[in-house]
Amino acid sequence: MTISNDGKTAGAELGEDVIISTSNLQKTYDAGEVKVNALKGIDFDVQRGEMVAVMGPSGCGKTTLLNCLSGIDEPTAGEVVIDGKSLYKMRDGARTEFRANSMGFIFQFFNLLPVLSVVENVELPLLVAGVKPREARKKALAMVDMAGLSGQGAKRPAELSGGQQQRVAIARALVNEPAIVWCDEPTGNLDSETQNEIMDLLCKLNKEKGQAFVLVTHSGEVGARADRVVKMRDGLIEKHVTNGVKSRGEAVRITD
Ligand SMILES: Nc1ncnc2c1ncn2[C@@H]1O[C@H](COP(=O)(O)OP(=O)(O)OP(=O)(O)O)[C@@H](O)[C@H]1O
Ligand SMILES: [Mg+2]
Repeated sequence: MTISNDGKTAGAELGEDVIISTSNLQKTYDAGEVKVNALKGIDFDVQRGEMVAVMGPSGCGKTTLLNCLSGIDEPTAGEVVIDGKSLYKMRDGARTEFRANSMGFIFQFFNLLPVLSVVENVELPLLVAGVKPREARKKALAMVDMAGLSGQGAKRPAELSGGQQQRVAIARALVNEPAIVWCDEPTGNLDSETQNEIMDLLCKLNKEKGQAFVLVTHSGEVGARADRVVKMRDGLIEKHVTNGVKSRGEAVRITD
């Protein structure tokens, strides 16, 4: 285990192939008279294929960091560079397309579409990306199997357990093989046994597919499964704890 305060070198043990990079990232929410400095200058790099857990007390800025890094919420200052491209220098349409092709999202409350079946939820990102329906269905069914949901494709989300619903959300986030997967408390709504099963799945996919994972969590058990834990406090990164180097498959590259 290595402890570091330098976000630019903390991931370097895993290689020099940076996929996410930000310097002096700041976000101020301006809610009328009250201004909240949610991010006060974050320096942070993530290596291709690295799994990073972001931890810290409620309100310290974890979700804000994830949203600014992933293009959901524009920062007040600082640049976000993903695979060599400056996210907020792109036009809106180009950024939306770039995000759809290179990023997957997993949230605490699954965010599945209730009227669609499991396989229809999973194939949606492929159809949006213009993949032909027959090909999309084939890929979605394979991903449903990979997520441990064989034979469940025709069910609606409401017919599944919480853990199974999160598996559907994971399959949907990963079906178009994004190079980066953002997770905001992916196990926050699950019991500890189901949490471990979901982490087994995420770690397996991270290792096999070489995708970078940035994962916000309140759980020390989840943090222990990551390559590195980034500890935040009051809008700043307090320290990086590197858990050790693990072997992994070839990392995914963004193509556009
Ligand atoms: N849309 C918003 N408008 C105004 N203030 C906001 C907004 N979103 C977040 N904040 C504030 O920014 C700070 C950081 O919030 P954030 O949601 O990033 O925290 P968090 O670390 O994810 O917390 P939690 O663990 O509870 O999810 C908090 O003080 C919060 O109240
Ligand atoms: Mg949050």
